[in-house]
Amino acid sequence: MQQSLLYPPLDLKKTISSNRLVGLWGLMKGFRLTYLGAVVSLAVATIAKALTYLLLAYFVDDILNQAQPTVPFYLIALGFVGLAVFQGGFTFISGKLAARSAEGVILRLRNYLFDHIQRLPFTYHDHTQTGELIQRCTSDVDAVRRFFAEQAIEVGRVLMLFSINFAALLSINTRLAWLSILSFPIAFIYSSLVARRIHTVYESHQEQEGVLSATLQENLTGIRVVKAFARQQFEMNKFEQANFELYQRGRRLVKLFATYWPVLETISGLQMVLIFFLGALMVIEGTMTIGDYLAFAGLVIWIIWPLQGLGRLITQTSTGLVSYNRLVDIIRESREEERDEEVSQRRSEEAKSREVTMVTQDQLRQATSATSNGLNGKVPLTIRGEVVFKNVSFEYDANTRVLHDISFAAKPGQMVALLGPTGSGKSSLVNLLPRFYGYTGGQILLDGLELSHYPLPELRRQVGIVEQEPFLFSRTLRENIAYGVRREVTQAEIEAAARAAAIHDIILTFPDGYDTLVGEKGVTLSGGQKQRMAIARTLLKDPRILVFDDAVSAVDTETEAIIHAALERLRQGRTTFVIAHRIQTVMRADLILVLDQGRIVQRGRHHELMAQEGIYRRIYELQSSIEQEIEAANILPGTNGRKGH
Ligand SMILES: Nc1ncnc2c1ncn2[C@@H]1O[C@H](COP(=O)(O)OP(=O)(O)OP(=O)(O)O)[C@@H](O)[C@H]1O
Ligand SMILES: [Mg+2]
Repeated sequence: MQQSLLYPPLDLKKTISSNRLVGLWGLMKGFRLTYLGAVVSLAVATIAKALTYLLLAYFVDDILNQAQPTVPFYLIALGFVGLAVFQGGFTFISGKLAARSAEGVILRLRNYLFDHIQRLPFTYHDHTQTGELIQRCTSDVDAVRRFFAEQAIEVGRVLMLFSINFAALLSINTRLAWLSILSFPIAFIYSSLVARRIHTVYESHQEQEGVLSATLQENLTGIRVVKAFARQQFEMNKFEQANFELYQRGRRLVKLFATYWPVLETISGLQMVLIFFLGALMVIEGTMTIGDYLAFAGLVIWIIWPLQGLGRLITQTSTGLVSYNRLVDIIRESREEERDEEVSQRRSEEAKSREVTMVTQDQLRQATSATSNGLNGKVPLTIRGEVVFKNVSFEYDANTRVLHDISFAAKPGQMVALLGPTGSGKSSLVNLLPRFYGYTGGQILLDGLELSHYPLPELRRQVGIVEQEPFLFSRTLRENIAYGVRREVTQAEIEAAARAAAIHDIILTFPDGYDTLVGEKGVTLSGGQKQRMAIARTLLKDPRILVFDDAVSAVDTETEAIIHAALERLRQGRTTFVIAHRIQTVMRADLILVLDQGRIVQRGRHHELMAQEGIYRRIYELQSSIEQEIEAANILPGTNGRKGH
């Protein structure tokens, strides 16, 4: 919103470069003028400072020894005061501008990272630890921030201080000026060597910090398991180990700095003593005036200081560069859309000869322009909900195929049920529909069009998944239900969805009703309540294709019946996929697919499958015999089975 006006937009992916300094310079786009302003202000302040010393030399040599001064003292005093004000004022301005450019660059970087990370594909998140990402977005971003806030400005400051003061020194005494930078090459080479070492050590330090952060994050997420299994000590040891490793790496880093500073200070100290001594000799010899000596002694501090600054810069910059690299690792990752483009480009090249693509692209353009034309996307014109799988195969990681040769067709409005043992690939199959993952072989057609032809957000608007393990945000129940809808929703609409999902009455029992907060700051919902919330959320989204992943297994039988009745109503006009373990749930499906180890081993309607030997009938028999047993157990005591409860 407003804050995006604070910085010009920039596609960071385009600015990153294999040369890190070029990359960092790229990050500064839009803030370079501000940065320049900071450096120029610094120059003015520095010049004012140098002039102070020249004025001092003039005062001592030319004014003090005159019996009748040509320039009155008060004017000289005014000169000193004026220069001091100038120096202070411009130092202030420079600091302000520097902060503005550094914080601006980082504001943009943080926003970009957040947006980028949430657009990365599931495969990336599957393989990346959340704690590690958090560490990069905080600690590493901060190191880069320090680079811009301190080091980048320091570069300007050091160069400026050095050149201006060195020029002043040259104007006083050329020979002594050259002698005063005698130690610079030595300091420079030494610093570069140390910087290389710091680079390696800091990199390993940040890596370990990532490990620690991931350990912490995992422990917090899994705190229930830790407590339930009384594994606190085990977890503590694990953390301690990681923490100790970080401590050691941190110490190595501090030790490097600790030996580096004194050496550099000794070099510059010796340099200073040498100059003071040589200068004094010159005064004794009479080749230098006392005023010049005083000014020189004052000024030389201001070129020795940048020498130390330069050393600090070189070493600290190397930490900024390491962190920059760690951020670039994330920025380089392809987003879902980009991955799509790559895939569709490859596909369209493959299918160049097929005319179908041309027609469908046109259809698609019509479809998307219609939805963006103020039709609110409520009933997307073209999607009827026909889903066809053609020899689809899928693997999360190369070489471990999870789905093999899956083929089936679902007409619009039909209900497809998936049944099969745990790990047989049911969730994996339905996760292909909204393209959470890209299938590796075959085709999935939605209304005759390959999935990749649909813009991702559009596709996901059409496919509503009630996940096996739903996640709710720490917001109000109302906000959670309305989450997937991109328009204003009325209370009536929200309540209708909640009723359909059999959660409305439960919500009313909470103190704040629909305004009750969920999660850390509010109520904790039970597993079944969460699932019903997820159902309500998906129903309100009103998708053409509805997927229930095990959605009704965590509710009691009575609620299951309510939800089924609701489902029956709501699935009208939508293609529905239901994953369930109970035959009762899948009986009414138009097509039942029985999966085993990633293959469809049986398919058909209930009565067809009952007529065959196979998993389906076995499950049916098992479940009905259990039910009979339960019934028998309830009836035997005589009166009423429910009484005992
Ligand atoms: N994100 C993932 N990355 C890698 N492998 C995965 C991932 N998710 C699932 N798998 C693997 O894919 C296979 C199928 O898993 P899937 O979740 O589809 O099973 P399922 O049929 O839904 O089982 P359940 O009934 O227990 O929910 C399993 O072997 C599992 O280990
Ligand atoms: Mg599953």
